[in-house]
Amino acid sequence: MNLKKMVGIEAANYVKDGMVVGLGTGSTAYYMIEELGRRVNEEQLNIVGVPTSSASRNQALELGIPVKTIDEVTRVDLTIDGADEISADFQGIKGGGAALLFEKVVASYSDQVIWIVDESKMVDKLGKFPLPVEVVPYGEEHLFRIFEEKGYRPTFRLENETEKKITDCGHSIIDLHLDVIEDPFKLNEELNQLVGVVEHGLFLNMVHMIIVGEEKGPNTVTV
Ligand code: A5P
Repeated sequence: MNLKKMVGIEAANYVKDGMVVGLGTGSTAYYMIEELGRRVNEEQLNIVGVPTSSASRNQALELGIPVKTIDEVTRVDLTIDGADEISADFQGIKGGGAALLFEKVVASYSDQVIWIVDESKMVDKLGKFPLPVEVVPYGEEHLFRIFEEKGYRPTFRLENETEKKITDCGHSIIDLHLDVIEDPFKLNEELNQLVGVVEHGLFLNMVHMIIVGEEKGPNTVTV
């Protein structure tokens, strides 16, 4: 069974006529956008999508979903997005697809946020998944050294194995290989204080509902 597809379709049911919908990024959000496209075309569902990446924007446009940027709307009713890890207390790591900046901006202006994941993403504590930190290229080597000195085992995100990955906003990504994050809130504060850090993949107290794809069916958890 394709668990990502299952939760993508399930989450799309929460989208109602007239909504402004934040469109997440990644292989799970892909199925949600696909289902919204189907509903727009077959059920004449009337929505506006606010994509969180160029990939999601292109997919939405191809499917005929009207899109606007976050600055062209006053509010987002509901954002549906994937996640890389979700802890037992419902904090998350996102950004495996390098879209964390737009994802965090859109989520922060959303009345309701739903994360859709397969059950492999549910963990006790965050940290096994490398934490992405989006940085301004100017000065990035200094940040990299700071992370090394802190023992955070940084690596630059690469594309095609040689080139540094550049985000939709022209930034680099440094992944921190932390294994376990004992205090995500403390790390959040610490990273936010570093000059040149634009954002990072810790999404804290941001989600309202999680739909977990399990073999027996979608498991909906209200936070
Ligand atoms: C994109 O930057 C990410 O935050 C994704 O939402 C996250 O990586 C989950 O992606 P998948 O659904 O592809 O696992």
